[in-house]
Amino acid sequence: KEHIKEIEQFVSTSKDEIETFRIKYLGKKGLLNDFFGAFKNVPNHQKKEFGQVVNQLKAAAANKVTVLKQALENTTDTKGQYGDLTRPGEPIEIGARHPISIVKNKIIDIFSRIGFNVSEGPEIEDDWHNFTALNLPEYHPARDMQDTFFVQTDPDILLRTHTSSVQVRYMESNKPPIRTISPGRVYRNEAISARSHCFFHQVEGLYVDKDVSFADLKQTLQYFTSEMFGKSKIRLRPSYFPFTEPSAEVDVYWGLETETDYRMTKGTGWLEIMGCGMVDPNVLQNCDIDPEVYSGFAFGMGIDRIALLLHQISDIRLLSENDIRFLDQFKGAL
Ligand code: PHE
Repeated sequence: KEHIKEIEQFVSTSKDEIETFRIKYLGKKGLLNDFFGAFKNVPNHQKKEFGQVVNQLKAAAANKVTVLKQALENTTDTKGQYGDLTRPGEPIEIGARHPISIVKNKIIDIFSRIGFNVSEGPEIEDDWHNFTALNLPEYHPARDMQDTFFVQTDPDILLRTHTSSVQVRYMESNKPPIRTISPGRVYRNEAISARSHCFFHQVEGLYVDKDVSFADLKQTLQYFTSEMFGKSKIRLRPSYFPFTEPSAEVDVYWGLETETDYRMTKGTGWLEIMGCGMVDPNVLQNCDIDPEVYSGFAFGMGIDRIALLLHQISDIRLLSENDIRFLDQFKGAL
């Protein structure tokens, strides 16, 4: 058995080593001849098995010598043991960035130009950071707005439903002025279809300082959308989030009359791209920031939806299936 192993594992590109190997096993005084010589002393009932094993060894050793010699010839007859160094190399496939990363990096880039840093937090969260600190006390009906995955049976540990949880963590450990965006994966217990998935990606933003106003929020959004989508109209519709007051939904005009970016599918009208609002004083208080002194705005958007829009992808599931034919199409996109 140990010989079989040795034969299998033997590799060499040196002529001498191969020859030594050949002599050790297959030479006139080699191991195999010894085994064949010993055959007559093997008890009758073991002869059959012994013979099979020895023949197997012989075949394996002979085969190894042939294969290695062949390999040696293929390389050494041209330019020595490394082969022909003048031959052109095998082309190496380059990868492509994932569309989620492309869009995420673009968003980070746009906000970093106006002083926002990037913060990250855990995907497995506790109730405090995902809900309670964000002004959603237990039994608050708005908790049903986001169907939550709980980790096992512990109602305190869950998969975060938004990256607002990161903003709570950031406020707990940093004092104003705060300008941060939090990209990351989030989870919601939703049926999977072409339009929605049980996990997706968000970028949420937070700005807290003295005298931050709704006008600052609107200007920031206007700046962001025109950098992201080309010169574009936005509109704010009143909405409700427990952690912001007032709250709004942001629509961008994906339409015909605007001077649109070439990537836009024209003629689809107003499209909702994010939620936003002025940070609720209760949230600031929960993070030990004095709402009498400071105010802030927050916003949150889904990266996947924006990636679908910009790249005209028809099914959100493509973003997580990792089909190489799909991913290949983003080669060269940055
Ligand atoms: N957290 C909200 C969501 O997941 C988005 C949001 C963020 C809305 C900040 C307002 C302010 O849908």
